[in-house]
Amino acid sequence: MNKKILVVHGPNLHLLGQREPDIYGKTTLEDINKELSLQAKKIGIAISTYQSNQEGQIIDKITQSGSNLIIINPAAYTHTSVAIRDALAAIEQPVIEVHLSNIYKREDFRKKSLISDVVTGTISGFGENSYYLALQAAAVLLGKTNEKKN
Ligand code: DQA
Repeated sequence: MNKKILVVHGPNLHLLGQREPDIYGKTTLEDINKELSLQAKKIGIAISTYQSNQEGQIIDKITQSGSNLIIINPAAYTHTSVAIRDALAAIEQPVIEVHLSNIYKREDFRKKSLISDVVTGTISGFGENSYYLALQAAAVLLGKTNEKKN
């Protein structure tokens, strides 16, 4: 059976392309989602993407995803949301945390992720490529490549 991945984008990421492009790049969220779908198709993984500015909606999506793995960029909620952390800790599936920017070389308040210690791994600082690298990592975790499994 085909493996399914859910990609969750948190608040303000719908503004990608126009929002602080020097930090987050000029690519829109729609373009990132399209590229993710293309790459997922090549690997043979089914992918769905979801963006919300609402904490509760993100929690509902995480806990009811029915997917085999979640890739999530919780955006500002990374640094504030105990509720999203708890939702990620509650589920069985592997989770990959993604950030476009390198949160460890920005303002002090961004250096703390409330989710890093409950996810499988984090990719931060590669712009839109952070998502594509996360998809590669997902393929490894789901056994969709020739890489050795952990
Ligand atoms: C972000 C980093 C967060 O600190 C910020 O609030 C975002 C985006 C990133 O992808 O670099 O909205 O998660």
